[in-house]
Amino acid sequence: MMAFLPAAKADDLWQGELLSLNIGGVSVFLTRLPEGVRAYKNACPHQGVPLTDGWLHDCLLTCSAHQWEFNLSNGQGMNPESARLTTYAVKEEGGVIYIDPESERNIP
Ligand code: FES
Repeated sequence: MMAFLPAAKADDLWQGELLSLNIGGVSVFLTRLPEGVRAYKNACPHQGVPLTDGWLHDCLLTCSAHQWEFNLSNGQGMNPESARLTTYAVKEEGGVIYIDPESERNIP
């Protein structure tokens, strides 16, 4: 069952930003891309370093620790390609961004 929780005000997340937050005991970050808002676990799949310490260029996020790269459109690793981010269901409604912290999943 989906249980969306309010996570942030839509106005607090601008395009090109990374917003870290704790929701339902889960460390998550939000980013706003031209195609919409995305939510991912704020831990690099390599060694768990917070991804919000990294650098974002367009939809490409580079981890600050060892420069692994991820496409934030879908959470897919670009370097290495086998890496995947853990993603959460997210929706934007009435000026509020909601996350379902129990919806954790990895794309195949
Ligand atoms: S912890 Fe992110 S690349 Fe190593």
